Amino acid sequence: MRKIRLLILLFVGAALMWGPVSLQAMDKEANTIDELVSMFDESSCIDCHEEIHNQWSDSWHAQSVVSSLGSITSFIENGLKKEWETEVTKGQMLKCLDCHAPVINYASEKLAVEIAEMIVTAAKEKGKPAGDAAKKELAKLRVGCLSCHNLKALAVAPHWNGPREEGMIYGPHGEDAGDAHETLESIDMTRSAFCMQCHGIYTAADGETIQCNTLSGSYQNAYVAKGGSNTCQDCHMDGGHIFHGGRDLDMVKKGIGFNVQINPYKHLPGQIKDVKEPGKWVPSAVVTIFIENKAGHRIPDG
Ligand code: HEC
Ligand code: HEC
Ligand code: HEC
Ligand code: HEC
Ligand code: HEC
Repeated sequence: MRKIRLLILLFVGAALMWGPVSLQAMDKEANTIDELVSMFDESSCIDCHEEIHNQWSDSWHAQSVVSSLGSITSFIENGLKKEWETEVTKGQMLKCLDCHAPVINYASEKLAVEIAEMIVTAAKEKGKPAGDAAKKELAKLRVGCLSCHNLKALAVAPHWNGPREEGMIYGPHGEDAGDAHETLESIDMTRSAFCMQCHGIYTAADGETIQCNTLSGSYQNAYVAKGGSNTCQDCHMDGGHIFHGGRDLDMVKKGIGFNVQINPYKHLPGQIKDVKEPGKWVPSAVVTIFIENKAGHRIPDG
């Protein structure tokens, strides 16, 4: 009897330790974009973190839905509807938007489908009033402060970290922000794995994998495996939250090592038949160009 009880206890213990940990700290679901945005309200961040806010506004993270309208539309119209004859659902939309706008996890099924329709309208009616209005609404969806500092902050190792706390700001140090907001340290945010959640392979709830960009693979297999020790943050956040990549010339220059060696010499006289004056020394050179990839992954990527 004691043995059985012990076994049951062990099972319960194991279930508690390894059972699914809900990432959904909130049960509430939003029915409009404004409701969704206010659940993760970032409007006050600018008051105290103005420089970071301005850098982020200029970054691609702040454009992450409106700059991809065409291809998300193609995913919906050509992929889901035509090729796979599948319904447009929240689960399907998360296959793009879990990375391009993580707040969508808290949209109701109805809102997620509406957002899909708005994306199609914005792409197809581009430049017309309906398209512009849809785009303006969709611009509210992006990789915002709380996408990183709350939603994805612990998601690298959800079972280990446990669920995120609603309203908590996770950061690299957990520095006391006084009355402004609560903070907690998330060591994960200083590690490459944090970025690789989105800059890598995504496994959807139905098991389908989506690879929007291949960068994390080459970071791990070609850079870290050969002894590279910089994190994504080391190379991409020394300028703060602007996150320069391949569309910034200075960043591209940083990534390419260029070394040209020119070794001038003269051909032996009489060796070249076409030369008008046989016997003349022909000036020549051996040019060796070394092009080195100094980025932490293959370039270009995307
Ligand atoms: C929630 C998902 C998410 C997380 C987390 C994330 N990113 Fe991104 N990142 C994106 C998306 C989506 C884009 C593409 C935005 C666009 O171009 O529309 C992007 C764009 C970028 C770009 C610009 C690429 C270019 O072509 O110029 C860089 C650089 C970048 N991210 C680096 C990072 C680094 C470094 C981290 C970790 C500190 C990180 N990202 C974390 C989703 C994410
Ligand atoms: C695992 C997270 C993830 C998923 C899922 C994902 N993306 Fe991306 N996407 C990214 C990141 C990160 C970038 C930036 C990559 C870079 O610049 O190298 C990006 C870049 C893009 C770009 C280029 C953006 C630009 O400004 O030029 C487009 C377009 C795009 N994604 C469309 C899609 C579509 C359509 C889907 C769904 C079928 C999708 N993505 C699914 C993370 C993701
Ligand atoms: C793509 C993810 C991402 C987004 C979006 C993002 N951050 Fe960060 N932020 C980070 C990471 C990662 C760090 C830690 C970098 C490190 O120290 O390695 C960080 C650090 C910080 C810090 C601490 C800075 C320091 O020097 O200690 C503050 C404050 C901050 N972010 C505020 C914001 C605000 C405000 C926004 C929105 C305007 C924002 N972040 C958007 C990823 C992000
Ligand atoms: C009333 C002022 C105020 C507002 C509003 C505010 N913060 Fe802060 N925040 C602070 C102060 C003060 C600190 C302590 C460190 C410092 O001085 O940067 C801090 C620290 C942080 C950190 C670093 C935590 C760490 O790990 O050390 C992050 C990340 C952060 N804030 C994000 C945000 C985000 C995101 C928002 C908007 C949702 C926001 N803050 C709104 C004042 C504010
Ligand atoms: C050793 C420094 C270094 C490390 C480490 C590094 N990067 Fe980069 N990354 C660069 C440079 C330099 C570029 C610009 C090169 C180019 O696109 O020509 C770049 C480009 C990018 C781009 C734009 C790609 C494109 O084709 O436009 C993204 C996105 C990106 N990095 C994300 C990441 C992520 C995520 C990690 C970590 C998994 C990471 N980087 C690690 C230096 C680095």
